Amino acid sequence: MKIAINTGGGDAPGLNAVIRAAVLSATGLGWSVYGILRGYRGLLEEGGVVDLTRDSVRGITHLGGTILGTSNRGSPLSWPVERKDGTVELVDRSEEVIEEFHRREWDALIAIGGDGSLKIALALSERGLPVVGVPKTIDNDLAATQVTFGFHTAVDTATDAIGRLHSTAEAHGRVMVVELMGRTAGWIALYAGVAATADIILIPEIPYHLDALCAKIKERYEKGPGFAIVVAAEGAFEAGGSATFQETAQARGEHRLGGIAEKLALQIEERTGYETRSLVLGHLQRGGEPNAYDRLLALRFGSAAVELVREGRLGCMVALHPPEVLAVPLKEAVGKLKLVPTDGDLVRTARSIGVSFGDEGTD
Ligand code: F6P
Repeated sequence: MKIAINTGGGDAPGLNAVIRAAVLSATGLGWSVYGILRGYRGLLEEGGVVDLTRDSVRGITHLGGTILGTSNRGSPLSWPVERKDGTVELVDRSEEVIEEFHRREWDALIAIGGDGSLKIALALSERGLPVVGVPKTIDNDLAATQVTFGFHTAVDTATDAIGRLHSTAEAHGRVMVVELMGRTAGWIALYAGVAATADIILIPEIPYHLDALCAKIKERYEKGPGFAIVVAAEGAFEAGGSATFQETAQARGEHRLGGIAEKLALQIEERTGYETRSLVLGHLQRGGEPNAYDRLLALRFGSAAVELVREGRLGCMVALHPPEVLAVPLKEAVGKLKLVPTDGDLVRTARSIGVSFGDEGTD
């Protein structure tokens, strides 16, 4: 057997651990393994495929990023091609990818990616490519798996960062607003916010009211310690309003979430009179070494993906359904997002220990 592996979409801590487990499991069965560089780009460009051997995956379990590189642009289904007049046209190059795959006489592809990359994997699988998917995203927003690797490391990083804000917020008597990733899901903000004892947590699943969150801040100054920590998921929005997008990206025609912390800091300072600062944790949440949980989950996913190929269960994705790692048909897995249940245990716990979601008294 000859199999290929690629990593697509934004990186997440644990990608290298998946690659290592898949390569060791496959070579243990006597198979040859190849790495496609930078998503599918490596199949469409010269020199974009590397051999993956036991030696090439030695000592990478703990490394962040991906030894194969990744890309969240350039889907083979809508590949940007610049025309002579400078305009960009999107071209379907999936047939070229499939031809190149067969020309190399590969038997299966293990595609590691988030929802966008898994959608590509599903489309290629429907066009005849033998694929097994491995879900990844720090956002933890894929419904078909209980957890994605990378999430818990991102939560650790964010928890540490919020923890560090406490002392400086207290020293200056300031409000600190920190913006975390997660797209349309509030998982990172909720987990890290509760773990790091934020006072206010704003998530897209619970639209906030500026009056309610400012009332909570005032209470912290009038009756409490005189500083406040606000955690805002990048996709959070005011009731009746919409999410905030980065202006510079918007000007280039790209819709990229970002800017809520800065916006909120100005609004909070204006309304309450308390000195307020903002920061965006950004890609620090994706960088660095995976924690032990994510290494283990990633290693399990990598081995399970090879097992699915061995059993001929193609067109599936590995998924964590504790205590087991199971296979879920890609068709049932993609496009289904998992959002924070607003009446779930963690939200209830947070409320009962005094965390505000900026919606109190607004029912
Ligand atoms: O999906 C993972 C994620 O990190 C999101 O949380 C974030 O909105 C996005 O990717 C950022 O993507 P990029 O790497 O293109 O800035």
